[in-house]
Amino acid sequence: MPDSGADWLARSRDVLRRTALVPEAASIGRVEEVGDGIARISGLPDVKLNELLRFEGGRAGFAMTLDADAISAVLLDEGAAIEAGSRVTGTGAVVRVPVGEGLLGRVVDPLGRPLDRQDPVAAAEYRPIERPAPAIIDRDLVTEPVGTGLLVIDALFPLGRGQRELIIGDRATGKTAIAVDTMISQKHADLVCVYVAVGQRATAVERVLEAVRSAGAPERCIFVVGEASASPGLQWIAPFAGFTMAEYFRDRGGHALVVVDDLTKHAATHRELALLTHEPPGREAYPGDIFYLHARLLERAAKLSKALGGGSLTALPIAETDAGNLSAYIPTNLISITDGQIVLDSRLFAADQRPPVDVGLSVSRVGGKAQHPALRAVSGRVRLDYAQFLELETFTRFGGISDTRIKAQMARGERIRALLAQPRLAPLRLADEVALLAALADGALDGLPPEALPDLRARTARALDGVAADAVATLAAGGELDGAGRTALVDAIRSLAAEAAPGRPERPAPP
Ligand SMILES: Nc1ncnc2c1ncn2[C@@H]1O[C@H](COP(=O)(O)OP(=O)(O)OP(=O)(O)O)[C@@H](O)[C@H]1O
Ligand SMILES: [Mg+2]
Repeated sequence: MPDSGADWLARSRDVLRRTALVPEAASIGRVEEVGDGIARISGLPDVKLNELLRFEGGRAGFAMTLDADAISAVLLDEGAAIEAGSRVTGTGAVVRVPVGEGLLGRVVDPLGRPLDRQDPVAAAEYRPIERPAPAIIDRDLVTEPVGTGLLVIDALFPLGRGQRELIIGDRATGKTAIAVDTMISQKHADLVCVYVAVGQRATAVERVLEAVRSAGAPERCIFVVGEASASPGLQWIAPFAGFTMAEYFRDRGGHALVVVDDLTKHAATHRELALLTHEPPGREAYPGDIFYLHARLLERAAKLSKALGGGSLTALPIAETDAGNLSAYIPTNLISITDGQIVLDSRLFAADQRPPVDVGLSVSRVGGKAQHPALRAVSGRVRLDYAQFLELETFTRFGGISDTRIKAQMARGERIRALLAQPRLAPLRLADEVALLAALADGALDGLPPEALPDLRARTARALDGVAADAVATLAAGGELDGAGRTALVDAIRSLAAEAAPGRPERPAPP
């Protein structure tokens, strides 16, 4: 039976009666001017700092500075469609990003939107990008190691879970390479890695992705990419978003590592935005709050107390120096708010000592206690021998040395140096590192020229798996190494060394 007009009227009245018609107050602001990724907005007096704003047409931004009569907002999307006179509303919420297991293996932008041509991220929940750092009583001491797979770092500047270690050096000295090797090394551990790219070239980001996908465990990594071509707003929030995503695992009792590549570019973006919003410039034209901004960020790295689940978040921020100048504003800031720094030297890099770690300037302030006892037992001697060698080398640069004792010491130093150099994408396991250093300490490598060591190192893992599998398994499980285990490791290296000793026929490379 067709509806009669009266029925329709009655039903409509009924629906209307049940609909609450109340006035709703909403502040609607007006864009006064827009340009360079910044919008100046009037008419939104109640907006909070970092509050997410919605512009006409659905684009997003967030409040960066609040003045009495206007606010400055940073646009998160390209600003073409926003113009003076556009309407804008506050959302009452700060900028949030998705967190959860659904992010693992994904490449996302700093707002958590997919960049890998896959479905949107399945978020466990959305969390604000700025979160308070754990309080002192919520923290525990750093006692568990983070292996980087790089002998020079694991032996001399060991890192611990919950530590903040700055990787700092000039352009193209292998800063990113160290972070990538560390991420790849987590294939053998349970750390979730978050790589945050800020202001990086797309090709550089692609190289990192490629490396982790081919040699690491990408299914336990999250890539947050605010590349050089992204809006300054997106680049600005990237480190904060990355920390929020990593904290999810820390807060559930898990362990996470976040790499920020790099904070120098982040500081430059912050300076750019601050100058555009007319904040007063300070030293090197950076606004005065840059130190506080980065301190606040890095304080979120922590080892949590047992009561809070004992999770940890380790941070590896990266910073770039200009001609090795560590005393510029941003480097000094960052050095003072981290627990140590790995300093890379472009001269060592040029001399093919890679990774070019400057052992005099580098330091790890809290990781020593976290170093595995087996590694600690064999690395103390190396540190001393190497330091003495570097000093001797400077003294003996011009003259021939006749003293046989000094000659032996020099030869030993050369071997240490060759051992500490390492190619990219070939991180060592704990057992490999212990075996090589123990063999060095026992003199098992004494007959070898330094040139033979890279090849020996490349064969180490396979050899140990063959003849010292028990010791390897014990160390991989975090156990202690007994005397027999140590002997097995050293013997394995000894036979490798015997094969490689000069005068022996060239051995074919393993398939
Ligand atoms: N251990 C290594 N052995 C050999 N080559 C290396 C090693 N580490 C880095 N490199 C090479 O050095 C170059 C620079 O490395 P990388 O991009 O990691 O440096 P960076 O300091 O991050 O550079 P940028 O300043 O451009 O970010 C790359 O070509 C890389 O392959
Ligand atoms: Mg880099």
